[in-house]
Amino acid sequence: MPRKAKAESKLAILGGPKAVPDGLVKPWPPIDDTDRKMVLASLEGTNHAFGPNCKAFQEEFAAWNGNRFAIFTNSGTAALHMALVACGVGAGDHVLVPAYSWSSSATCVIHHNAIPIFVDIDFDTVNMDVAQIEAAITPRTKAIIAVHLHGLAMDMDRLLAVARKHNLKVVEDACQAHGALFHGKKTGTMGDCAAFSFNQNKCLCSGEGGMFVVDDEEMRNVAAQLWNFGETRTPLESRDYHAYALGWMYRGADLAAAFGRAQLQKLDGYIKIQRENAAVLNRKLQGVRGLILPTEPKGFTHNWYNYTSRIDMAAIGWTGDPARMRDAIMKALQAEGVGAGVWQRFILPRMTVFQAKNAYGHGSPWAENDALDVDYNPDRFPMAEKHTQTHFGMTVPLRAPNRADVADRVAEAFHKVFENVSRLDPEAILAQAAKK
Ligand SMILES: Cc1ncc(COP(=O)(O)O)c(C=O)c1O
Repeated sequence: MPRKAKAESKLAILGGPKAVPDGLVKPWPPIDDTDRKMVLASLEGTNHAFGPNCKAFQEEFAAWNGNRFAIFTNSGTAALHMALVACGVGAGDHVLVPAYSWSSSATCVIHHNAIPIFVDIDFDTVNMDVAQIEAAITPRTKAIIAVHLHGLAMDMDRLLAVARKHNLKVVEDACQAHGALFHGKKTGTMGDCAAFSFNQNKCLCSGEGGMFVVDDEEMRNVAAQLWNFGETRTPLESRDYHAYALGWMYRGADLAAAFGRAQLQKLDGYIKIQRENAAVLNRKLQGVRGLILPTEPKGFTHNWYNYTSRIDMAAIGWTGDPARMRDAIMKALQAEGVGAGVWQRFILPRMTVFQAKNAYGHGSPWAENDALDVDYNPDRFPMAEKHTQTHFGMTVPLRAPNRADVADRVAEAFHKVFENVSRLDPEAILAQAAKK
């Protein structure tokens, strides 16, 4: 039941007190003596490129996630590119990608001169709509990028059934999904191979960084060549400096690996806290009028990387531009001290790199692959569009070391803003914000 608006709950954006006091929300990630010791030991060592911490991090992460092999990269994007090549994707092949994700879930396809084909999302889960996959498959389709967005796994049973029927490889984009489960199985263990990100804001942070994971040794070796100048040996081995294949330089650095290793020791504890904090929000925000809470269907275990809600415009009686009202509500939440934000304002097919179909000049890779007629019309992805206009999310308030006291205050702020939503004048709020 929605609670009654309290007299003292004057919105902070209208001059009232903040629901979340300054200094209460602690930054991510927490740093302790384990981080300090391991990073300092790397600094004082002699291998600053791909060094012993990188090798150990690969082994420890593979063991943590349950993969045979792991390769430490300088980004999740690098790991995605490696994954496509390990799956045998080549120039001109079609790769299915959800219409809503981080840009590099799709640009990694162009990195190998292949062609991204977008599939709309399922509005409830915000993941690729599996029911729409078959209609997007062409004779040139080679792989699917299964993005486990915001830490909610895709329905891998249904996805793998379609993929196997059409002989397609599945790359898991688990960049946001460390420790998320589908029927008890960890993301990154269900498809043919997977990519994780360790960028600053991810559930496991090494500053920047990523991990390619796989069980098949041949695929591991193909990915390893791409990762390291086309060579077959790492800087820890005796190299012949020969490019056996086209390679990039995707290796991670020892300092980042030392930081990542220290954080990995605490990862299970972090994810547990995220789940506890999300449970507080899920409980306290039930029934808030106008708020569509994130879902966690039966059989799925979220990691709550990003607590993303949508606004039901009809329920709050708003008939104007949904994105304007969403932005105004977000400003009101921010004024209350809630670190809410809009993650993506554009669905992927709307981004200029796809609309222009000219990544490398001369229309490449679409022109030479007879793919200029691939349809990136945003109207074909109505659920992704609706999501981008109405969503907002949060990461840090749910992260360790923040606990239930923070989640309580955040829930208080949501109640305050949504119960007073009729007092918000989006045009005035956004005009004021634009002046700042
Ligand atoms: C879903 C998804 N895929 C891929 C990436 C790329 O990871 P990185 O920034 O480490 O390259 C990100 C990072 O934000 C992401 O969220």
